Amino acid sequence: MTGPTVQDRYASAVMNTFGPPALALSRGLGARVWDTDGKEYVDLLGGIAVNTLGHAHPALVEAVTAQLSTLGHVSNFFSTEPQVELAERLLSLLGWSSGSETGRVFFSNSGTEANEAALKLTRRTGRTRLVAAEGSFHGRTMGALALTSKAAYREPFEPLPGDVTFVPYGDVEALAAAVDDTCAAVVLEPIQGEAGVVVPPAGYLTSAREIATKHGALLWLDEVQTGIARTGTWFAHQQEFAGGVAPDVVTLAKGLGGGIPIGATVARGDAATLLGPGNHGSTFGGNPVACAAALAVLDVVEQSDLLAAARERGEQLAALLAAEPHVREVTGFGLMRGAELDGDYAPQAVAAGREAGFILNATGPSRLRFVPPLVITADDLDALASALPGILDQAREAAS
Ligand SMILES: Cc1ncc(COP(=O)(O)O)c(C=O)c1O
Repeated sequence: MTGPTVQDRYASAVMNTFGPPALALSRGLGARVWDTDGKEYVDLLGGIAVNTLGHAHPALVEAVTAQLSTLGHVSNFFSTEPQVELAERLLSLLGWSSGSETGRVFFSNSGTEANEAALKLTRRTGRTRLVAAEGSFHGRTMGALALTSKAAYREPFEPLPGDVTFVPYGDVEALAAAVDDTCAAVVLEPIQGEAGVVVPPAGYLTSAREIATKHGALLWLDEVQTGIARTGTWFAHQQEFAGGVAPDVVTLAKGLGGGIPIGATVARGDAATLLGPGNHGSTFGGNPVACAAALAVLDVVEQSDLLAAARERGEQLAALLAAEPHVREVTGFGLMRGAELDGDYAPQAVAAGREAGFILNATGPSRLRFVPPLVITADDLDALASALPGILDQAREAAS
């Protein structure tokens, strides 16, 4: 006799904030995962843009194991080498550690916390008004939620803190009209991830920089989803479409730890010293195991040239999606891609994909998002190319 499944036990033991999970997964390797029945899947979601190195990467396993065997946690009464080294590496990757550019990092454990810290930092400017974008997603804690535009996420929890004006994403005129000398910061994702990989018009972030500077406001870019090589550069704002702008604050999480929870709020110039002793804190933030994991991620990205892999595999992914007659539009850069279908059957495509052995993701009724591990292989993507027509046919049928 078999007992209750993991799914059954989940339903009676875990709070129902996510709805029933689609699968119970038991192991992974590279860009593949296996469910508790032993069925194999190509993972095109990567834990929602988290598993930079894929599953069970030996360098990540080794780094976490070695650090945990040496010193697992100490609190922020003390510093550790991995924490300081990670701060230095992030500043260097942002170009904020040389010449006149000085930066500082605050570590936390998630994207929403990275944004929460940035929000508190903006309060220290003496101004409280913030301008964010329609379609934005910045997290679920009350401060980050105040910057998240989706009504269904916000409304059950109102009143939310802060004075936030939302403007249409990508619209320079609307941004210019909304930002004035009372504004503490302009908060933007370089590419909107949860909205379905929405890329702003070229030059938008450069204009945002100019508008923020003109009014003495900070430019805060949320790179929680786009950061750490996802789009083919270390940070999306370093790309040509973004004008190579220098923000004042960058928030990171997701891919930074490759699956180990970590968030980082990075600020430069005057913004780097706005938070002082007693202004903010975190018991776990900067934990040496999480920092060692992040250092391993950065090392492997460099040593295995995953920046080039993100670009090359990203082109392959974009091409296979564009070749599909039922895909109307392909968006994004590197291994962060959106596909707009010719009808409202994206959730059915996710279900059909699962049946065919692919973990897919829908961000809306007609929108698929692809954020796989950066180690996904050409063969994995060839397999998707072969299966996609059948998956979309089945999905259309299921939706009709
Ligand atoms: C751009 C962006 N910011 C913040 C978050 C929140 O991150 P977390 O779920 O780690 O709190 C997300 C998560 O999807 C995100 O995409």
